[in-house]
Amino acid sequence: MTSSALRPDTGPVLRDFGGGPFGIYIHVPFCATRCGYCDFNTYTAGELGTSASPQSWMDALRGELRTAAEVFGALPGPQPDVSTVFVGGGTPSLLGGDGLAEVLDAVRANFTLAADAETTTESNPESTSPRFFERIREAGFTRVSLGMQSAAEHVLRVLDRTHTPGRAVAAAREAKAAGFDHVNLDLIYGTPGETDADLDASLDAVLAAGVDHVSAYSLIVEDGTAMARKVRRGELPAPDDDILAARYERIDARLATAGLSWYEVSNWAADDSARCHHNLGYWDGGDWLGAGPGAHSHLGGVRWWNVKHPARYADHVAEGGLPVAGWEALTAEERYTERVMLVVRLRSGLPLGDLDPAGRGAADRIVADGLARVDRDRIVLTARGRLLADAVVRELLT
Ligand SMILES: C[S@@+](CC[C@H](N)C(=O)[O-])C[C@H]1O[C@@H](n2cnc3c(N)ncnc32)[C@H](O)[C@@H]1O
Ligand code: SF4
Repeated sequence: MTSSALRPDTGPVLRDFGGGPFGIYIHVPFCATRCGYCDFNTYTAGELGTSASPQSWMDALRGELRTAAEVFGALPGPQPDVSTVFVGGGTPSLLGGDGLAEVLDAVRANFTLAADAETTTESNPESTSPRFFERIREAGFTRVSLGMQSAAEHVLRVLDRTHTPGRAVAAAREAKAAGFDHVNLDLIYGTPGETDADLDASLDAVLAAGVDHVSAYSLIVEDGTAMARKVRRGELPAPDDDILAARYERIDARLATAGLSWYEVSNWAADDSARCHHNLGYWDGGDWLGAGPGAHSHLGGVRWWNVKHPARYADHVAEGGLPVAGWEALTAEERYTERVMLVVRLRSGLPLGDLDPAGRGAADRIVADGLARVDRDRIVLTARGRLLADAVVRELLT
């Protein structure tokens, strides 16, 4: 497909915005080193050589945002203000405070940010400092998400993380001191060799940091990663499902006691303002533009994704179009499947009225099995249901 298919005059697809929130995701495809478990679209300087650099990426990003604003501006009806911006990666903090300020300026130059827009950047603890946080706060960012993963040195080593155990908490404190009210720490649990005591130490550290948001992900051994090769060769054990379930329960209990409640199966927040509204937009069927190499976008039931490699991405932008690798218009059935998969994971629950007759029958069985309850005509996962969320989704969709 060429990018012209996204143009309303020549293409069949983009008709209008879906009427919900509109977010912008920006993908920064650079990391200092590659963590053995990670299969995100990111590259080290050695992997890129001279084919792409943060400067060429920034130039291409500006071009993509400019073209996207033209395409969206040509759609009928009013263009909504941008309610959330999320700069993710990769390692956005490798751009430095000035680089991230340029990114937000490029968004503002092409789109109108809502007055109360949530603007987040991911950051790796080792590439941050008090000055970095002051600079990005001054630039207009309102939220920081830090990849902590664990407080245990041996766990960080298995994950190939380069920061020292105390650095993530120190970075969270520096962000708060710079004026950030909203700070997230990401944890990974179930890493081979992690003990219950290691997890407790990580939770102690998270709670001592006083952040208002935590994301905790069970370790996924992704195909094609260095970690998957180690597991296949027997050098590392695969994460154990029973241990993962017990760790999840422990995380949920300790965070809840400290006043952080779950609002999505893997996410906890102190209150509504602390939630990641950008991610809520993804989960609730909102519209978003994904800019940068490999980024995915969604607008009014049409999804498209960008060329993955930073050098090819920049080439496409230089040719003057959107750097699109492929697109699809979701069928009603696909939209239904996605909605069930994503919304049932939210604490606010899935309206029973959204389910088809087979889904209603499945919901009755799921409730009878104690995996969900019905609250104001919505199906909401119980604690056990959250552990088996994937199975619940499969049942609802059979
Ligand atoms: C892709 S990273 C980007 C942000 C930043 N570079 C970092 O590592 O913190 C976002 C988060 O995804 C999670 N993640 C990435 N790969 C994962 C995997 N294989 N299993 C579980 N969590 C993973 C980590 O918690 C990480 O903080
Ligand atoms: S720093 Fe983050 S994005 Fe980069 S390789 Fe590690 S987990 Fe992936």
